[in-house]
Amino acid sequence: MFNMNSTYRRASEYLLKLTPFQPELAIILGSGLGDFAESVKVHKSIPTIEIPDYPESTVHGHKGFIHFAEYENKKILLFQGRIHFYEGYDISKCLLPVFLIHKTGCSKVILTNAAGGVNPSFSPGDLMLIDSFYTFNIKKELSAFLGKVSPEQKNSFLDFPSKWLSELIKEASVKTGIFLQHGSYWFGKGPSYETPAEIQMMLKFGIDAVGMSTAHEAVYAKFLGMDVAGISLITNLAAGLSPTKLSHQEVIDTANEAKLKFESLVKNIIKLI
Ligand code: HPA
Repeated sequence: MFNMNSTYRRASEYLLKLTPFQPELAIILGSGLGDFAESVKVHKSIPTIEIPDYPESTVHGHKGFIHFAEYENKKILLFQGRIHFYEGYDISKCLLPVFLIHKTGCSKVILTNAAGGVNPSFSPGDLMLIDSFYTFNIKKELSAFLGKVSPEQKNSFLDFPSKWLSELIKEASVKTGIFLQHGSYWFGKGPSYETPAEIQMMLKFGIDAVGMSTAHEAVYAKFLGMDVAGISLITNLAAGLSPTKLSHQEVIDTANEAKLKFESLVKNIIKLI
């Protein structure tokens, strides 16, 4: 069974002292999607650098704030910035935000990310509801982190996304007239993007999108008993599928262009929660 380590204890004790309310929904904002926090009423912002043992956010596009906010009378918790393996952090550091969400008493989480499009019908700027994950690259770390689990827990991890939450996201997309792709997400630890050969392999397997976050967060959130769903913003065509060289700047630029669409979808999701 999972044992809370001292980092988790210190960080959660600090956060809980500052928590103004119990959020109804938490959202981890992916690369370049952090500006969403500026579009809602924020009650309390906590720089993650002030939280004991919280890993420093080192990636451009991840500001490093936790916001207790409100939209349409719904209390929400926003993570403006996430922690990645490719920054050199281990799994327990990467999963600290999920633990903190759980400790605030929030039981619903939407994980968002920027991802490369593998599915040939995807274009940069598309939003994709995540149907399922490929977690091969992270299984070893996850099982060591979670330790001994009960037979019931074992398979509950696979129950992603929570059906009612993904139906609600689809309903919000219809209401806003925003087209939602859907598909499977391949998790890669990084630090680099994939090679063109790896993307060719993924194409053969029918993988739709690829990124370096989210999958382990979803498994851990399920382990903690939360309702979880995920949305990818396709920021680029995956390696070798585009004539231009892949870069983090391209990811940020596309996220900026799709910002209003993302904002509108997420606000409608919050309304329906
Ligand atoms: N690969 C991995 N991670 C990513 C990509 C990609 O093409 N785009 C945004 N995050």
